[in-house]
Amino acid sequence: MKALILSGGKGTRLRPLTYTGAKQLVPVANKPILWYGIESIVAAGIIDIGIIISPETGEEIKEKTGNGDRFGAKITYIYQDQPLGLAHAVKVARPFLGDSPFVMYLGDNLIQDGLGEFLQVFTEKNLDALILLRTVSNPTAFGVAKVDEQGRVLALVEKPKVPPSNLALVGLYFFANSIHQAIDSIQPSARGELEITDAIQALINQSQKVEALQLEGWWLDTGKKDDLLAANQIILDSILVNSNQGNVDAQSQISGRVTIGKNSQIINSTIRGPVIIGENCQIENCFIGPFSSIGDHVILQDADLEHSVILQSAQVIGIQQRIVDSVIGQRAKLAIAPQRPKALRFLIGDDSQIELV
Ligand code: DAU
Repeated sequence: MKALILSGGKGTRLRPLTYTGAKQLVPVANKPILWYGIESIVAAGIIDIGIIISPETGEEIKEKTGNGDRFGAKITYIYQDQPLGLAHAVKVARPFLGDSPFVMYLGDNLIQDGLGEFLQVFTEKNLDALILLRTVSNPTAFGVAKVDEQGRVLALVEKPKVPPSNLALVGLYFFANSIHQAIDSIQPSARGELEITDAIQALINQSQKVEALQLEGWWLDTGKKDDLLAANQIILDSILVNSNQGNVDAQSQISGRVTIGKNSQIINSTIRGPVIIGENCQIENCFIGPFSSIGDHVILQDADLEHSVILQSAQVIGIQQRIVDSVIGQRAKLAIAPQRPKALRFLIGDDSQIELV
């Protein structure tokens, strides 16, 4: 069994955060989204992993993620020159996949359930494809399945204007090698992509064994700001532990589950977990409320925030109004003068600077 993670594409939906970076590297609880997928695959016993990357963001992904040693896996990077669709990515990965069955994981999805149980069903039933479904309130944004009363998949359609159900395809698929001839039989869709939904539909049309299971746990497609904040909240809520490798002065108060990284200084501040603070941060005269993730090398002074994600090397200085539901990009700087407006809500990209004077 092999794994193929799709981390190519352009990531336009998370702009401006991904103007300068891969959306799969945007951190959730200070860890790149992509790494959760890798860990989940390795936990299911699959260590031969191919990662699809694009020319624009591939180097950054390679550099950060490495050859797999840190995960106990072997990672092969596969370039896809243009984002011509999920099925196109499988085509490009054919030399890596050979005739092996494989799990395909979309690098911007976060899935709570372990893969083990699904893998077992796929293997024991000797399926051609196993897909996972989850009810959603906005099916037009996803691939959608039409299923019969027994739960059998009748049809799949990508981003339908009139959805046949509210069952979305989750970005986790299990395939036998028969998917390759199905991909060879399809044409690009109206949006110019080779759709994996069309390839699975081709398997269904040929009466191959395609089954669907419903996902029980949470699933987040982290392409948008609010999804990212929701993912951050869920991960901090479920996995964060108390750990302090920084320096907290006597005037500071820490309560709840809080992780503080190496060399971070907390001065005269209140931190109410769950909160994660990276390495080499400087936090002075601040309140940091629940569900906040602060990346490495961040400077916060006289600031008050909660339910927010502050990426690496950003600075927030002199903002007394509470910053909520915000994502602040790498190296962004927010500084404010004493005449203050009442509320602020931000989605600020890498390298942005906002000064309210
Ligand atoms: O998140 C689940 C949804 O993912 C499914 O419900 C849809 O059926 C499926 O098509 C997909 O839709 P998205 O619009 O969310 O796909 P997106 O373009 O965001 O790409 C998903 C991942 O695959 C992302 O990490 C980028 C990568 N990718 C995408 C394309 C189009 C590639 O590596 N190569 C590509 O050519």
